Amino acid sequence: MQLQRIIILLVILVVIPSDEPIRAADAQYVPSAQRGYELLTSKAFLPADFDQQVFEDLWKTWPKDLRDLAQKATPEERRRMTFSRYGLIESPDHPGTGTAWGHLPNGQGGWVMNCLSCHGGKVAGKAIAGLPNSHFGLETLTEDVRATKIRQGKKLGHMDLAQLGMPLGSTHGTTNSVMFGVALEALRDADMKVYRNRLPPPMQHHDLDAPPFWNVKRKSRLYYDGLVKKGHRPIIQFVLLPKNDEKVLASWENDFRDILAWIESLEAPKYPWEIDAALADSGQKVFNRQCALCHGTYGANEHYPEKIIALDRLGTDPVRLTSLTAEYRKEFQHSWLANYDTTDPVWLPKGYVAPPLNGIWASGPYLHNGSVPTLWHVLHPDQRPKVWKRTEDGYDREKLGLEIITHDSLPDGVTGADRRYYFDTSRPGKSAAGHRFPDELTEEEKRAILEYLKTL
Ligand code: HEC
Ligand code: HEC
Repeated sequence: MQLQRIIILLVILVVIPSDEPIRAADAQYVPSAQRGYELLTSKAFLPADFDQQVFEDLWKTWPKDLRDLAQKATPEERRRMTFSRYGLIESPDHPGTGTAWGHLPNGQGGWVMNCLSCHGGKVAGKAIAGLPNSHFGLETLTEDVRATKIRQGKKLGHMDLAQLGMPLGSTHGTTNSVMFGVALEALRDADMKVYRNRLPPPMQHHDLDAPPFWNVKRKSRLYYDGLVKKGHRPIIQFVLLPKNDEKVLASWENDFRDILAWIESLEAPKYPWEIDAALADSGQKVFNRQCALCHGTYGANEHYPEKIIALDRLGTDPVRLTSLTAEYRKEFQHSWLANYDTTDPVWLPKGYVAPPLNGIWASGPYLHNGSVPTLWHVLHPDQRPKVWKRTEDGYDREKLGLEIITHDSLPDGVTGADRRYYFDTSRPGKSAAGHRFPDELTEEEKRAILEYLKTL
């Protein structure tokens, strides 16, 4: 009996290590970028949003003219139409079949949203990892999924219900992501313990364009206002559904170390068309004189200053900055998500970070809210369109950025979900004003800078 107990105790000690060695091993964990990508495309951190049968019936919720077209279409064409309607991107790993890039299969026919739904986009029709998905229509997708589930007599999921309580994104390509985080974190304490019946704080809903992943390696802090020191915990935010409690989150830490390693392994895509080298050279000189102070230098001896520029000088839309209160920022800094960072004085930024401009030709639309469709429009503040709609896969090689149709106001007769294809800069949080620094340049200098930006 005694011997049996000793054997059991020994087995427990050997097989189940105590807390200490686990933490020590984690600290030494060598993250793998390849595993990070595999996890993103294979591990379900969240429940499925819908199943294949719902996906195949989405077209039945569309406006009549589109519905008629879809009804006559072949299954392949209907899949293409469905991807286009919601800004879903074909996975370069299995184009034309299976789930979209931003969803993974859960093995039972379910489509589970992953980070690539917002962080895997296409430019001129080509999918690029880490490129913000400037097509994604999360709100419209969620509405149509809910209507289809009701029609099919299926249970509603977390997104279907969340959307009844908060907007998900009022323009395709941008999402209310920051407020998702605020709402989910309100249900937790600093250690990530869940209290389901806590009420959400007042929220200032607004939509953002995601930043390109390939610049994360050049930054020491994350998010448009530099909210938090870079690390794997802050990026767990997107999977903070209450069912993922503090123990589940802790068990996923190494997964998110791998995901961050993958993000940091990405390189900016190269401009695929011709570049006028002489013009780009003269553009570099102007850039280094007028822009490098904030945006850094590129090529050999590159340097990135990672500066916050105060809003009164910058003049871009203020809502993203003011939507996060000092109280929220303090709680965030002092929580598990920011490694209980009390060494960092609570940081109340006055503006937005001037981002690195690597791969900038590809990551339109521009500014944190995605309000400016091309780099030419960044350089010509007075000519930015009031209302614009992008084409599906067009790339504007003259102006560098999205190929668009412009309007002075929302065209008559555009209603319902169709409004979300139009970026309307008169709406709250969507101003395209500010960043008037290029005003000091001559037209010739602007042309040269535009050429230089192709080389970054
Ligand atoms: C619904 C869209 C959406 C999803 C899904 C999403 N993100 Fe984001 N992500 C954003 C937006 C928008 C921002 C910009 C937020 C800000 O700065 O205020 C962002 C910012 C980031 C940043 C900071 C980048 C920088 O340069 O500062 C990282 C890193 C990141 N996300 C990682 C992830 C990971 C990892 C996942 C999946 C677990 C994920 N995101 C899922 C929309 C999304
Ligand atoms: C005083 C600092 C400062 C100067 C000078 C400056 N910028 Fe910026 N720039 C910023 C900040 C801050 C942002 C982010 C603004 C936002 O998202 O609201 C930005 C954004 C941009 C963007 C959009 C980035 C993106 O990913 O959406 C481009 C392009 C850009 N700047 C180009 C330039 C060029 C070209 C020059 C020189 C003519 C220049 N900037 C001069 C601070 C500066």
